[in-house]
Amino acid sequence: MLATTFNRASEAFRNVVSNKRLGFRYLGFAAGSLMVLYMLYSITLGPTDVLSIPREVFKSSTPPAVWEMRAEEVKQAFLHAYHGYEKYAAPHDELLPMSAGLIDNFNGWGVSIYDSLDTMLLMDLEDEFKRALPMIERTNFTAATPEYVPFFETTIRYLGGLLSGYAMSGEKLLLNQAEDLSAALAGAFDTASGLPLFSVSTAAQRGKGSEIAALAEIASCQLEYAYLAKLTGNKDYFDSAYTIIRALENADLSKTGGMLPTKWNVTSGQPWNNMIQVSVGAAADSAHEYLLKQYLMEARHDKASLELYLRTTNYVITNLLYLSPSRHLLYVTDLHSSSLKPSRIFEHLSCFFPGLLALGAQQLPLDRLSDLGISASALVSGLPPDVKQKYYTLLTKYNLRDLHLWAAEGLAQSCWLMYADQKSGLGPDEVVMDIAPRAGSEVYQDPTDGREGDYGAGTWFEALEKWRKSGAKGAPPGTADRPPVTYDENEQRNGPRPGHSRDYATRRSGYLLRPETLESLYLMWRTTGDERWRERSWAIFQSIERELKTTTGYTIAKVVYNDPITLGNSMPSYFLAETLKYLYLSFKNEDLVPLNKWVFNTEAHPFEVFNWTTAERKKFGLS
Ligand SMILES: *[C@@H]1O[C@H](CO)[C@@H](O)[C@H](O)[C@H]1NC(C)=O
Ligand SMILES: *[C@@H]1O[C@H](CO)[C@@H](O)[C@H](O)[C@H]1NC(C)=O
Ligand SMILES: *[C@@H]1O[C@H](CO)[C@@H](O)[C@H](O)[C@H]1NC(C)=O
Repeated sequence: MLATTFNRASEAFRNVVSNKRLGFRYLGFAAGSLMVLYMLYSITLGPTDVLSIPREVFKSSTPPAVWEMRAEEVKQAFLHAYHGYEKYAAPHDELLPMSAGLIDNFNGWGVSIYDSLDTMLLMDLEDEFKRALPMIERTNFTAATPEYVPFFETTIRYLGGLLSGYAMSGEKLLLNQAEDLSAALAGAFDTASGLPLFSVSTAAQRGKGSEIAALAEIASCQLEYAYLAKLTGNKDYFDSAYTIIRALENADLSKTGGMLPTKWNVTSGQPWNNMIQVSVGAAADSAHEYLLKQYLMEARHDKASLELYLRTTNYVITNLLYLSPSRHLLYVTDLHSSSLKPSRIFEHLSCFFPGLLALGAQQLPLDRLSDLGISASALVSGLPPDVKQKYYTLLTKYNLRDLHLWAAEGLAQSCWLMYADQKSGLGPDEVVMDIAPRAGSEVYQDPTDGREGDYGAGTWFEALEKWRKSGAKGAPPGTADRPPVTYDENEQRNGPRPGHSRDYATRRSGYLLRPETLESLYLMWRTTGDERWRERSWAIFQSIERELKTTTGYTIAKVVYNDPITLGNSMPSYFLAETLKYLYLSFKNEDLVPLNKWVFNTEAHPFEVFNWTTAERKKFGLS
């Protein structure tokens, strides 16, 4: 019976996705149409003084049949990992791959199963999917180990996994469990503002957590709850999602230039201004991601989400992007009110950001915002004069779509180089970028005014402005391809030989099987058709195979630059949900999850784009 359901549903899914594919399926066609689009933009749509530069789309020599074989290798990697989990750890949360052990670190409900469902469906792994369902049916969400479960992680992994599993298979059990789970989590929303608390006892239906909460934790469940409302028609879920969106929309963001800061007061529903930090990394990441994705998932209904996304990207592009002093690596970092100086920390977690920019650049009419009734003056209203001026320049002097793509390219390039620079081919979790050139490294001279080391001090936007004002020759700063810089043993110990600086020091040296860089490489390839990104994903996959495969599954690296690298003992469920999924999608020639039809939640669980019907609008009180 299960088999029948599976076949019918996955066939239905395939029909949905294969009938309406993105126009960019054929790369030659993509290259051609991109050029045509650019010419159209610059001739007919963009104001004449707006800067726009044609883009070259790289086509690799790897034939389509080889890409299919690579996708098959990723499928085998998933099977190796999941079978190891099944054999040694199921139905507990995660496998400990070095000791053939198990751990309950996410509620003890078998998080690896939930996180794997849609990956199985995409890979046509019917047997694994059939074996997973009874384990899911047996989960008792009102009993958890320990009693309080983290709301954010539970939502993105368990609820996200159930909802996308249902979206792709039509398997009713998954929707029923999603409803049971969200009922068990309801206590999290028991705050004056409706912003969720950090954790919740599913047995006592009670939330618990600090009054001051991290942005990512309070604003990364709107997709899941709005999607659940769509599937069930239940207004409570809708209200949970929309209360958060409206809180973000109505918050006073004048102190942070329209950017959502990292700390919020869940009683007042306002930013906590005692200590302001702005970041796209650990404490913030998915909240920024969900602004764009909310807009896309609800078939572009919620203009406020879009405006918040535009303000966020305006802020990041003008304030949080920097260039390293010698290699001119473009990176994104964070700012703290205590110092008002960039920390220059560049996190692996932030490497989702180039993919988000690329997604937005493809899906939004960024250079025709007036078509959506959005004006530059609306986007700068209520902001301090210096911020206003910068945004205004950005919005009126540049083709916004190009600008987002340049930032995406430069950042994706740096994220990739963090891997390529290491002998192991695996990127560290955090680095600190240099400000001034290191002794012995090439001193950079700014081409526009000859000042030394200038890029290390100012923001990317300042460098970009100089480039624009001096006639915009060559590639925009920080966007050109650069070779990796690999240290030998001596350099690893004693520092680089002259002219060989990497421009950063490692701060957290592990590679935790994280997906963010591969996610961005996937989105860069899918949205631009440029196969450089796809080849880089392949290089990273080979490094994972070579360095991190164990007899039972795959494990994290503790130190990526030791030779041989130092291994840890963990196989996080997101490796199954995200890392392997983005790799698989990067190598499949067929576009299995078209980006105009599906939206990935922050755990890479795809939800289908939908419109609210007239009846739903009425019921939920939507205008
Ligand atoms: C689920 O767990 C709770 C708390 O331990 C228990 O009271 C309840 O009976 C369990 N439900 C089922 C169906 O086992
Ligand atoms: C949070 O906001 C409430 C309501 O405005 C206020 O009473 C409380 O002191 C704030 N908490 C902190 C820690 O600032
Ligand atoms: C949503 O509605 C618009 C306007 O009617 C339509 O063009 C679009 O195709 C719909 N999208 C979906 C996903 O149903």
